[in-house]
Amino acid sequence: MKKSEQQNDLMAKIASLAKRRGFVFPGSEIYGGLANSWDYGPMGVELKNNIKQLWWKRFVQRRDDMVGIDAALIMNPKVWEASGHLQNFSDPLVECKKCHARFRVDHLLLHQRKRGELKCPNCDAEKSFTDPTQFNLMLKTFLGPAEEKANEVFFRPETAQAMFVDFKQVLDTTRRHLPFGIAQTGKAFRNEITPGNFIFRTREFEQMEIEYFVEEKDWKKWFEAWKKEMWSWMTDDLGLADSHIHELEVPDGERAHYSKRTIDFEYDYPFGRDELYGLAYRGDFDLKNHFKEAPYRDAETGQTSWPHVIEPTWGVDRSVLAALIDAYREDSEGDKKRVWLKLPPKLAPYKVAVFPLLANKPQLVELARSVYDGLRKNFMVAWDPRGNVGKRYFAQDEIGTPFCITVDFQSLEDKTVTLRDRDTMKQERVKIAELEALLVKKLA
Ligand code: GAP
Repeated sequence: MKKSEQQNDLMAKIASLAKRRGFVFPGSEIYGGLANSWDYGPMGVELKNNIKQLWWKRFVQRRDDMVGIDAALIMNPKVWEASGHLQNFSDPLVECKKCHARFRVDHLLLHQRKRGELKCPNCDAEKSFTDPTQFNLMLKTFLGPAEEKANEVFFRPETAQAMFVDFKQVLDTTRRHLPFGIAQTGKAFRNEITPGNFIFRTREFEQMEIEYFVEEKDWKKWFEAWKKEMWSWMTDDLGLADSHIHELEVPDGERAHYSKRTIDFEYDYPFGRDELYGLAYRGDFDLKNHFKEAPYRDAETGQTSWPHVIEPTWGVDRSVLAALIDAYREDSEGDKKRVWLKLPPKLAPYKVAVFPLLANKPQLVELARSVYDGLRKNFMVAWDPRGNVGKRYFAQDEIGTPFCITVDFQSLEDKTVTLRDRDTMKQERVKIAELEALLVKKLA
């Protein structure tokens, strides 16, 4: 199999595992789906929440220079006028004159570079494209019963703007001094011309964003500091191999309209290298556009100013995708093939699973159930009483559960259980009374 086929195969395997085990389902599937929309299932929502909670703990709760907000999805359209999104947030679009498929010009050029020819990726027609037109990515709706211009509003295309719009209120209520940041996680919407590659590019997605306000003279220092933080998040928290991550300095002319410097963190997805996260220096562009008078007053000097902004931004769905790709493993135990997820324990949907060795032995089930109930007070625990134990282990490995506990006949005698490690497949005997403390240590 060629490398490109193997890579496509990997993407198909991950999408299939995600569906089969309840991580991600096609949205509205019983009605034929809807334009690349996806639903997170029982495993997916845990993984996604673990990522968001880890992020919030790390970047908001554990820092004394950060506060969070949770703003409305739909904001006054004047926000998007001031931010430049109504004017500038667009992609150049071309249409194939033969099959009428539409493409982003940058994607088409990439396609051309790979294949060395300018054919329609959909119908193979040669040089059949219309001239490019600008297509605004803002997703429009109406507030109130009448669908008229006066009621036209937009779903936010980035969570960032609320941090600028609410800047003064945050300042007034929390008495922050530069440097400090405002963080938010939440949905954003873009009418993408070509959504695709599973959950990589969708029209509805989630972001985790920080607007970090600094004095202009300090912007380079803070840009570097946030670059380090982002690397550490990707490798230490998300568990990505650093060899799979690449920095791309986005050149002049290709940056977003508000950015004076941008680094894209790119990841080696099975379909190719592409953006995972971004880090931008937005200068004072946004605060200047929203506030006529300088919104910040220095407590010591009394001087007012428009602080400058470093913006680290993370896509939640791309975090889920990269974590799944990096964690995906295939190996075998004897003649049995094992597909498993080497997820960092903090991200795994279940931390531990509990099994009675046999489902038809009430004493085993009762003791296992009491172990399960005890652990459930502190951990997400799976319960699986039926079937071959080896298969039950493999089923947990496939969703990334780091540990499995089996209650067997010896447990009834000496109140010990087996604790099996996902990564090594090794088992040890542990006293039930010591299980919780041991798991806290192992899962840290
Ligand atoms: N506030 C800055 C901003 O929104 P961006 O690079 O356009 O910057 C930030 O988006 C992050 O949001 C991206 O790095 C990516 O992780 C995620 N993202 C953007 N568009 C997306 C889409 N259509 N589907 C999924 N994730 C997306």
